[in-house]
Amino acid sequence: MFNRRKFLQVSSLGLSAFSLSGFTSKNKGNKPIVISTWDAGLRANKAAWEILRNNGRALDAVEQGVMVTENEINCCVGLGANPDRDGHVTLDACIMDEHANCGSVAFLERIKHPIQVARKVMENTPHVFLVGEGAQQFALSQGFVLEKEGLSEDAERTYKEWLKKSEYKPIINIENKQQQTAWAPTRFDDGTWNHDTIGMIAMDAAGNLSGSCTTSGMGFKMRGRVGDSPIIGAGLFVDNEVGAAVATGQGEDIIRIGGSHAVVELMRQGYAPEDACKKVVERLLKVKGDKAKDIQAAIIAINKNGEYGAYCLQKGFNYSVCTADDKNILLNGKNLI
Ligand code: GLY
Repeated sequence: MFNRRKFLQVSSLGLSAFSLSGFTSKNKGNKPIVISTWDAGLRANKAAWEILRNNGRALDAVEQGVMVTENEINCCVGLGANPDRDGHVTLDACIMDEHANCGSVAFLERIKHPIQVARKVMENTPHVFLVGEGAQQFALSQGFVLEKEGLSEDAERTYKEWLKKSEYKPIINIENKQQQTAWAPTRFDDGTWNHDTIGMIAMDAAGNLSGSCTTSGMGFKMRGRVGDSPIIGAGLFVDNEVGAAVATGQGEDIIRIGGSHAVVELMRQGYAPEDACKKVVERLLKVKGDKAKDIQAAIIAINKNGEYGAYCLQKGFNYSVCTADDKNILLNGKNLI
């Protein structure tokens, strides 16, 4: 196993033990590990860690972890989140395990935990992806309850405010608590605020990787719009031989570059997680050109050695990391512009 002394020795020689591109990843080399997007990840990581520290499976950890966020009232995850422009909350989620099994749901309404439905799609159907009415029908057949229609108090207030102009203008870093004064933030009892999509990736004590991603998508989107989050390869990708990556931010643009898959493929080539994320965000910047300043996109990754890293387009993105050494910490993602 990788140890810190060896790391320092190798580092002082200017060589990299794990990557072609140097020591730019946060390198602990230990397991288990769970990391997730935004500061909501701190609460989600806590639930995931309970499973990981008891030698549980990464798949269970990433499912249980993001369910914490799905249960909270916030702008962008779960039934309490912002609606589409017609006033309906529609949810997207996906999950992927160490055997390349995966399941997704999109445009799912009135079901509390889309991540659990995604797992059922993975385990109980011959398919990978169910959407809309079909996804809801399937969820009901699996014993999920149809929740009542309607918006949370926060979402109702925000939606009414939005209707005054009805402009589709995603707010950059709406997920970050410091950016939310103009929006309609919800403060939790512990002083933390709300966020966006939660993406979570984990490696368990056995060294197996899994990931999950769940969101209500962009607030006030067109009805039927689906972003990157439920799309395997865009919002999330796991390859148990290499690593895992998950994305957050402007879904349309993350889809355009196949964000999470691209990061994993770069790690396969030897790039450290942070360097792989940076390269993919650079690709996005190239594609977007001047328009990049209007969007946020961020990717977090871990590799098979338990190294982790992240990169974002512009500042304001943070992510939560939980390891035996790091406990549960919030880090700022490095930004390109
Ligand atoms: N990344 C979330 C979305 O665009 O829907």
